[in-house]
Amino acid sequence: MIDAKRILVTSALPYANGPLHIGHLAGAYLSADVYVRFQRMMGKDIVWVCGSDENGAAITIKAIKEETSPREIVDKFHELFQEAFQGMNISFDYYHRTSDELHHETSQEFFRKLYENGKFEERTSEQYYDPKANQFLADRYIKGTCPKCDHPSAYGDQCENCGSALSPTDLINPSSTLTGETPVMKETTHWYLPLNEDEEWLREWIVDGKLDGKEHHEPKDWKNHVVGQCKSWLDGGLHPRAMTRDLDWGVDVPQEIKGAEGKKLYVWMDAPIGYISSTKAWAAENGKDWKDYWQSDDTALLHFIGKDNIVFHCIIFPAILKAHGDYVLPTNVPANQFMNLEGDKISTSRNWAIWVNDYLKDMPGKVDELRYFMVKAMPEQKDSEFTWAGFQDAVNNELVNNLANFLNRVVVLTNKYYEGVVPEFDENQMIFGPSGDDETSFYDNEYLRLFDDLSATAQFIRDFDFRGALNKIMEISSKGNQILQFNEPWKMIKEDEENVKAVMNLCVQYCAAISSMLRPFLPTAAERLSQLLNFDQNFESGEFVEMMDKMAMGDSIIEPGHKINEASHLFSRIDDEVIAEQKAKLVKTEAPAVVASTPIKNNIVFDDFTKIDFRTATILEAVKVPKANKLLQLTLDLGFEKRTVVSGIAQQYKPEDVIGKQVTLVANLAPRKIRGVESQGMILMAENSEGQLSFVSPADGWEAGNVVS
Ligand code: MF3
Ligand code: ZN
Repeated sequence: MIDAKRILVTSALPYANGPLHIGHLAGAYLSADVYVRFQRMMGKDIVWVCGSDENGAAITIKAIKEETSPREIVDKFHELFQEAFQGMNISFDYYHRTSDELHHETSQEFFRKLYENGKFEERTSEQYYDPKANQFLADRYIKGTCPKCDHPSAYGDQCENCGSALSPTDLINPSSTLTGETPVMKETTHWYLPLNEDEEWLREWIVDGKLDGKEHHEPKDWKNHVVGQCKSWLDGGLHPRAMTRDLDWGVDVPQEIKGAEGKKLYVWMDAPIGYISSTKAWAAENGKDWKDYWQSDDTALLHFIGKDNIVFHCIIFPAILKAHGDYVLPTNVPANQFMNLEGDKISTSRNWAIWVNDYLKDMPGKVDELRYFMVKAMPEQKDSEFTWAGFQDAVNNELVNNLANFLNRVVVLTNKYYEGVVPEFDENQMIFGPSGDDETSFYDNEYLRLFDDLSATAQFIRDFDFRGALNKIMEISSKGNQILQFNEPWKMIKEDEENVKAVMNLCVQYCAAISSMLRPFLPTAAERLSQLLNFDQNFESGEFVEMMDKMAMGDSIIEPGHKINEASHLFSRIDDEVIAEQKAKLVKTEAPAVVASTPIKNNIVFDDFTKIDFRTATILEAVKVPKANKLLQLTLDLGFEKRTVVSGIAQQYKPEDVIGKQVTLVANLAPRKIRGVESQGMILMAENSEGQLSFVSPADGWEAGNVVS
């Protein structure tokens, strides 16, 4: 529970090299929007900042691919992001961008301070340089043959075939993925943050919630998966990390530093500092002091992110902030996991996504509907899934049949019986509660129950359990429907008018409560509802708290005598055709071909080829190699003898699935030990553009031991 005087909320700065999809929304934006809107309603001093992440090598690469400039790329996506966020009613207090001058200054000043305080280690090393692109190459931008398994397209940091961790210099025949050129070695100097020295305090801070020996936060408030990921990083050991890069797009290393020429800040150093720049820009426009939010102990800092950003927000950025010394550290990092789409991972490169800008165009006026389903399916603790059928079902059965149905009935009946004037009632009237039992459920009791449900909803939000909160609101609406169902005012109105007054008054209180509590989730619908109820609350200045106080005292939210408006439309059903159309838009495109772009190796002469003895073989046994997650130990039948071969296929094949498969074996490869097992040959594997593997097999039914040539 956060009791700080101020709350500063950040959402991951989206990277400006591709449009936003629902996975982004579910990760860092919608969750934060619900939280922030709620805290504003509670009258909290809260600021929410974000902006576009516009620096780094990936922007340059995108610009090269599209034959344009980095500036045009970032401008285009910055524009699209703003449209998408506004369209979805994401209510940032400030949306900035890291190509802005203010950000350059802010991050340079930060870097300078760390440099002057001796927080960096300067290291010179030789790195690959692409002479055609005129730039040093990040590990991922170099490809070549794996020295361990001969796989032809291993990356500079890892071979995805055999799983070996590599460094770029290990690769045989390296080439630049930017230009296809052979890179050359060149000396370069960078500034490293010795994260290895931070392990101890980071562990104490994350695991025990203590900072500098003082209580900092309740460790149990952090999500398990967040703490789990941090622990595994810490257990694996931290290493010094370069905070600069050789790039031509980004924030310059302050030029007075010797050797700074051509160096830029590492994008994961400058981007989170973007939160600070954004706060500065906000403060300047609003007559506030940004330091109150970043450098004062009575501020709680919260980072909303997706799980792929955990290490940066829980380890690297805190280490950067601590090295500076003046800044607060996050009180919590409520990261979400991933949202999948129709049974598959969301993927920008395969176009497997629902793009926010497209949704807004295709489904005008259906913003709250999407927000509703996204919160309902929010990947808070584990990965979740978006399906169009699930979306349709939630809208039709929950928003229309439950919520709109209840609200509409109350408004219609109040108008019908009382010309829209909320009735005075006798407190001693017995009415049926949602459970249908009439013994104890007179008005007061039910009203108190509503108060408890609202308090529980609020607590879910404070605990970052937005699904739980939304569920609770729908439960309140169900209870409202049940109250109508059990008391049947439409029958009772002829027999017992006094009783109907009590029932309808209670139902109006339910509607008012729902309209308030729904605000953070469905701002547009909640606003429409409060107009219907003619119930205007000032949500930016804590009237919600007053409402809760009133309820706790047993006072009505809406007083008798208050006039509400005529019924009007809240939600409509979504038809099958609309869903079918959206589903039809989902078409996977092929990933850019990895294999096709792999250069053909140098020529060999025919004699070289005939030296290799290929044989067909059958897999008799297969077991996993202990402590090697990519390797299977295979026993092969060659017809005339058996062989043991270790193969890097364990991530694609389970041992039981390969038994009986026909394969092709390089039978005269000199034996070598892999993880302590002698491998007597190598089986041939084909790899497609998605990195999937296939055995190279003779036709079905062929016996083992045939010669392949
Ligand atoms: N741009 C990053 C991403 O899309 C997130 C940056 S978050 C920040 O994953 F902290 F660096 F700003
Ligand atoms: Zn390999």
